[in-house]
Amino acid sequence: MTGVLQGKNLVLGVTGSIACYKALDLASKLTQAGANVDTIMSYGATQFIPPLAFRSLTHRPVIVDTFDPDSELSIEHVQLAEKADLVVVAPATAHFIAKVAWGFADDPLTTTILATTAPVLIAPAMDGHMYENQATQDNIEKLKTRGIRFVGPASGHLASGLTGIGRLVEVPQLVGHISALLGRDGDLAGRTIVVSAGGTQEAIDPVRVITNHSSGKMGYALAEAARDRGARVVLVSAPTGLDDPAALEVVKVRSASEMRDAVLEAVKGADALVMAAAVADYQPADVSDQKIKKDSSALTIELERTPDILMEAQGSFLKIGFAAETEELLANAKDKLDRKALDLIVANDVSKEGSGFGADTNKVTLVGKSGEVEDLPLMSKHDVAHRILDRVKALLG
Ligand code: PMT
Repeated sequence: MTGVLQGKNLVLGVTGSIACYKALDLASKLTQAGANVDTIMSYGATQFIPPLAFRSLTHRPVIVDTFDPDSELSIEHVQLAEKADLVVVAPATAHFIAKVAWGFADDPLTTTILATTAPVLIAPAMDGHMYENQATQDNIEKLKTRGIRFVGPASGHLASGLTGIGRLVEVPQLVGHISALLGRDGDLAGRTIVVSAGGTQEAIDPVRVITNHSSGKMGYALAEAARDRGARVVLVSAPTGLDDPAALEVVKVRSASEMRDAVLEAVKGADALVMAAAVADYQPADVSDQKIKKDSSALTIELERTPDILMEAQGSFLKIGFAAETEELLANAKDKLDRKALDLIVANDVSKEGSGFGADTNKVTLVGKSGEVEDLPLMSKHDVAHRILDRVKALLG
């Protein structure tokens, strides 16, 4: 299974900002994901980073001069513009944005943008006052009405030493937005998929919780894979150490009850619910207002059942559950499939090496409602996610 970036022709425009150093990482990540990345640098960008750096990472020539007599392409801006699946400009300066807004074509990047029919994604990076200046805002609005998409800028530390808006968004966010844009007409376009992820935390007192080892990786991989196949995705996430995925809706929750409320709200009008979260089955019956003090005696905490979210979620959407098991994998999974009236269950042997909690890989068996069993080999959680979504797609018809 390959990702949405595999084999895609991307034009990476780089303009003159100190944030150019992040564009090197972006070029590398896109190339590693299988995209063909053609870099076009403005003169300003070449003052920060030599073209050779991009050439070394992308293994392709870098274009800096519209009239380069040694060029391998005859009319580069036209050729690249025509074959591009997407043009991304990161970082984009105020000057560059102004030139595109006014239709200038005085360098290879602006000419490529004028000549392309591919989607264009612009990630601005500049001083906060330059960004907020009405001239820049007007230019951005003008470009948005022409269908050009923007991501960022983010807020935080700026190269000027000030803190505020103007930072280039981080590379994983850029890759997420690029992937979402490339996958927008995928086989799940027009569908809404709700995914839960992470391990819920049930409070004992203000400082202690009952939780489990879920890292959220499986659920986040599902959410990103569904996004990259064109679905609108709502990710209901219990606490994890992961960054929010780009270009999808993230609802943060803590406990099983909070997850229940968020999931029941999100599934209204959805096509599928995929519960990859490790939801606590029990919660303390009473939550202490104050930190419980230790003494020499043992402490007993009474636990009560949490709401069963999959059981409570009723509607015309598909219900896909996971079964995290350490024994009797298939028997226990089939029991959950029937009891929770699921369309599909992902039986997950969490005692296997490289499988289940925390790992980047997973070993699962898919069990359908009429009992059919598909045993998958150990594979990345990204690939597992796509195999589950293949089944979701087939079930949706
Ligand atoms: O997050 P990672 O580190 O990547 O690990 C992935 C994973 C191991 C958490 C994931 O692959 C997995 O198996 N998730 C389900 C864990 C779980 O809670 O399984 P369960 O067998 O206890 O629950 C069965 C199903 O009912 C699950 O879909 C669960 O989300 C759901 N459930 C459980 C309890 C509850 N109160 N409400 C529920 O809806």
